[in-house]
Amino acid sequence: MQHVDIGFIGAGNMARSLLGGLLAQRYPMERLWTSDPDPGQRELATALGVGHVSADNDEVVAHCAVVVVAVKPQMARQALAPLKEAVATSKPLVISIAAGIPLAALESWLGAQRIVRCMPNTPALVSQGVTAMLANAHVTDVDRVLAESIMGAVGQWLWLEQESQLDAVTALSGSGPAYFFYFLEAMIEAGCELGLSEGDARTLALQTALGSSKMALQSDLAPDALRLQVTSPGGTTERALAVLRNGGFSPLVKAAIKAAEERARELARDFGSQ
Ligand SMILES: NC(=O)c1ccc[n+]([C@@H]2O[C@H](COP(=O)([O-])OP(=O)(O)OC[C@H]3O[C@@H](n4cnc5c(N)ncnc54)[C@H](OP(=O)(O)O)[C@@H]3O)[C@@H](O)[C@H]2O)c1
Repeated sequence: MQHVDIGFIGAGNMARSLLGGLLAQRYPMERLWTSDPDPGQRELATALGVGHVSADNDEVVAHCAVVVVAVKPQMARQALAPLKEAVATSKPLVISIAAGIPLAALESWLGAQRIVRCMPNTPALVSQGVTAMLANAHVTDVDRVLAESIMGAVGQWLWLEQESQLDAVTALSGSGPAYFFYFLEAMIEAGCELGLSEGDARTLALQTALGSSKMALQSDLAPDALRLQVTSPGGTTERALAVLRNGGFSPLVKAAIKAAEERARELARDFGSQ
């Protein structure tokens, strides 16, 4: 990976997981910058090994070839609008991970810059994230490779062609970890109700989730084919799946994800107005 100066506006959870991923890949610490008004967050970034930590967003923009916007969506306008001049001068590639902030809003706050809008997810904290990215018209092929390297430090990435798809990504993979945690909670509770200790139920449920995901990733078969493979006629799995089907599992999951997509669009309207 090309070693340019990379700066993070905001040093919160997502910024630190990306910084941690870059450092784990031996990205030089003196090439990493972050700014945050919160002394506690700055302390954590320093402890992580980030070379330049301050409260000065302008300093980050002035020094960095890539600026990652990692503040909460409701803080984005307030953080970015004052940086318009500095960005016009140093012309960094801007990568925004702020959920729901449209490219048009970023362009209106920062000017016609090279901007990539991303949607990562929290498994980035354990280098197993997935990030969907969308480039504006000014982004070059070199910029794309840089964005891929940064988001690739904490997991997989893919490019989207249409901005509207980012709301679907937010609903699917952005909020997705919580859906799996919820399913795991129910599995663990069921295991306990059937007489297992909580620890054993937890180990069995978590390892089953990990193993199933790895199997699905490594297989050429689609999930429905894998499901059929492990569902013997007249067996236990078939009985359980019938209960899920009769209880409306699939339409319920789809309704939940569509509700999340609708909320993502509402948030974009609330926080992204130019
Ligand atoms: N965490 C996730 O799962 C996830 C997933 C996808 C996308 N994202 C996106 O990632 C972004 C960051 O999320 P997060 O969970 O890392 O949030 P976070 O932990 O709250 O981090 C944001 C940091 O930005 C700081 N900040 C606020 N205003 C600032 C300013 N003007 N200049 C510089 N820093 C400023 C905040 O400081 P204060 O605490 O003092 O306000 C905070 O330390 C969000 O936009 C979110 O939508 C997060």
